[in-house]
Amino acid sequence: MRRKIVAANWKMNLSIKEAKDLAHQILTSDLQLNEKNSVVLCVPFTHLHVVNEELSKHKVNSVYLGAQNCSDKLQGAFTGEISPLMLQNLNTTHVIIGHSERRQYQNESNELLKSKVETLISQNMQVLFCCGEPLEIRKNESQNSYVAEQLTASLFHLNAEQLTKHIVIAYEPIWAIGTGLTASPQQAQDMHAFIRSLLSEKYGNEIAQQIPILYGGSCNAQNAKELFSNQDVDGGLIGGAALKADTFLPIIHAMN
Ligand code: PGA
Repeated sequence: MRRKIVAANWKMNLSIKEAKDLAHQILTSDLQLNEKNSVVLCVPFTHLHVVNEELSKHKVNSVYLGAQNCSDKLQGAFTGEISPLMLQNLNTTHVIIGHSERRQYQNESNELLKSKVETLISQNMQVLFCCGEPLEIRKNESQNSYVAEQLTASLFHLNAEQLTKHIVIAYEPIWAIGTGLTASPQQAQDMHAFIRSLLSEKYGNEIAQQIPILYGGSCNAQNAKELFSNQDVDGGLIGGAALKADTFLPIIHAMN
């Protein structure tokens, strides 16, 4: 059985106090996780410290701390950047790489993302690697080749061991992010099965079957169960609905 993951992407939201309270609420509720099902809280850099404190206080198994980006360099004269080593100082184990908002607003290229992936693997960290097509590409029905190109350019140089130990893929169609327009369960399953077929072509079926593929884009308490019931959907990357315990906790339970 593949690992399942529900990851919260808080984006640029919440005060430090709100972050602490939300982490507390999540960690003190009955999450019913096991070693195959985990939760990752990907919080703003400035909030890692308090969320880490909450995590160490409550010691809930299978809940991990994540960041939303990092530098591809480990240290040096890179003003304003955050190194994976600094993230590890705060017990951060996971990092979202290649979110469409960073590709779009920070012009992050496939080449840069490849370099970030390599740096994180060199530090034994977990990568939540995002891919997904914009609306015009979906309208032309060329989403498969678009996503294939993103994965080939930034991930497919890895060997099978690196891939299975460090990579979780998140498919997030851009037209569904923060818009209230969710991909239908069939659209999600079709893309996830396509991504798995690409992994299988490149690494063989046994490896492909091990990689978790999460869905993201207006996933919420109402639609999570149906989305996650698809064979190739192994959980979700959750934005808006992860900002409140009462909308986030049902998504965790939908995974379980
Ligand atoms: P959303 O965001 O759930 O608010 O659509 C998901 C994401 O961008 O990771």
